[in-house]
Amino acid sequence: MLPDSFIQELNAKNDIESVVSSYVSMKRRGRNLVGLCPFHGEKTPSFNLYPETNSFYCFGCGAGGDVITFIRRIENLSYIDAVKFLADRAGMSMPEQSFNDTTSKQRMRVLEANREAARLFHACLYSAEGRVGLEYYRSRGYTDSIIKRFGLGYAPQSFDFLRSELRKKGFHDEELVLAWLCAKNRNGNGIHDIFRNRVMIPIIDVRGNVIAFGGRVLDDSKPKYLNSGDTLVFKKTNNLFALNFAKQGKTDNLILCEGYMDVIALHQAGFTNAVAALGTSFTMEHARLLARYTDEVVLVFDADAAGQKGAQRAIGMLREIGMRVRLITVPDGKDPDEFIKRNGAERFKLLLDRAANDVEYRLMELGKKHLLNTSDGKVNYLKEATQLLASISSPLERDVYIGRLSADLGVSKTALQSQLNYQLQRQKKQQQDKQFSQVIKQSESTAQKANPDAKTHVRGASAEEGLLGMILLNPDYMTAVRPLLSADEMITAFNRNLYATLVERMDQGLSLELSHLSELYEPEEMAYITKMVRDARERVSSHTVDEAKRYVSIIRSEHHLAALNEPSSLTPEQIQEKLNAMKHMKK
Ligand code: UTP
Ligand code: MN
Repeated sequence: MLPDSFIQELNAKNDIESVVSSYVSMKRRGRNLVGLCPFHGEKTPSFNLYPETNSFYCFGCGAGGDVITFIRRIENLSYIDAVKFLADRAGMSMPEQSFNDTTSKQRMRVLEANREAARLFHACLYSAEGRVGLEYYRSRGYTDSIIKRFGLGYAPQSFDFLRSELRKKGFHDEELVLAWLCAKNRNGNGIHDIFRNRVMIPIIDVRGNVIAFGGRVLDDSKPKYLNSGDTLVFKKTNNLFALNFAKQGKTDNLILCEGYMDVIALHQAGFTNAVAALGTSFTMEHARLLARYTDEVVLVFDADAAGQKGAQRAIGMLREIGMRVRLITVPDGKDPDEFIKRNGAERFKLLLDRAANDVEYRLMELGKKHLLNTSDGKVNYLKEATQLLASISSPLERDVYIGRLSADLGVSKTALQSQLNYQLQRQKKQQQDKQFSQVIKQSESTAQKANPDAKTHVRGASAEEGLLGMILLNPDYMTAVRPLLSADEMITAFNRNLYATLVERMDQGLSLELSHLSELYEPEEMAYITKMVRDARERVSSHTVDEAKRYVSIIRSEHHLAALNEPSSLTPEQIQEKLNAMKHMKK
């Protein structure tokens, strides 16, 4: 356990507003702040910060908790690593060994093993053994300086290169397996190198850690790339290749391309704002990661069917979180790497500057679907086109396209505008309905995940939630509540546990604030607790000790009812006793 005083200071020095603001742009609304949720895609903000309790809650997806829970989720860290992260941020040092940090230590070892491996692969490139690797890079036109900058390397044709080198440096077999550098032998004895006879590309995160590798074959054999699997320090859907360099550039946008080699070629040609997803298709997590560093993404995908499909997918996700998107289709070359080699960086720069934004691109695609020289075709095209324009959030931008459509198709601007208004109304209504039902569904499922009993004891659970929320906001009520209600009278298992925890903490003279609970509860449970506190705050005017007592009596009567429903374990006398007790309570 970490000392209370430490968690208290950690909270004081990491207020939720400033911590979250470096990930999400937040607007003040009354006592709270609202913004677009970083944990799910949305256009209207339902992500709330509550500075008073240093907590957050999203009505859209049910994510919630204290500041430590926030860091756990957004940085994908364990509890103790999230605490370290925040301590670091606030310039605090961790208290001496009062916590279990096995995974935290393992993560450190994996990162160290990766860094050593990257050094070894890079050094190998310039040895006799690695000559083939170096020649491969040379044949692709990579200079020594770009090789050095990206830390590119070569894994020799050996089952035992990394293993023996890293063993000399003190790494154990299990650590190398954890790092995804080595795998267990089939016969169960010993381990062997995973990457062999491949040119090696280290994946480096924004903090400068080597978190994984991609390895490419030197010829046409398959599989072309071998990528590290997910480890303690790497999740491929959460990371982008070269973001560590790209985020430092001063450009207004980031270039998203398909492959490692495209990114490296672009950086060599001076486009140091290029990144790529890692051996996987683009995900919502990637989109949100990009959104932390830029408002505009330029997509550079291959012209083939797979590339275009990938582009469409990425456009949808980036738009969903309100990013501007532009798109380049590389003419006749297969990918940007080849295009630059053939035509030079200047020509690529022209392409970039002229890149159509995604609306133009999608209008163009729509145009191909309809016969624009027939009236029917034109009408259908305009219907779909206005529907598309209705999804653009900037009125100015919409107006530009209305003007363009009107000129291109010879239809009056007013007619188009009224069709657009109709679509805007419709989409707004649809979105409100969707958000409403999502909020309902979400708040049910937040409780469901953390406290499955709540479903079968609706009335009791809601009184428990009301009471617990009120106590967390007004810890002094505990003095009045405690003699009236013992933990085993709580009906649902989770709330019973929470109440017992609060009673115990109070007995020990410890604080009942939200942030002290996140060591004990998982992020989903923290979301449920935060929701109780949030709902209690909405009713803050009715907070009185009497109100708390009212909850207590509901809980007790529900508890007796619940016990009656399991009569098998009760004798008739006991049942009579319970009934009497209930009559008593109603008075
Ligand atoms: P590409 O086949 O376009 O590779 O796959 P590339 O990066 O352009 O490489 P070259 O130019 O042919 O040498 C695009 C990306 O898809 C992933 C890799 O991340 C690659 O960079 N990929 C591809 C794999 O993960 N495994 C594969 O077998 C192939
Ligand atoms: Mn390529």
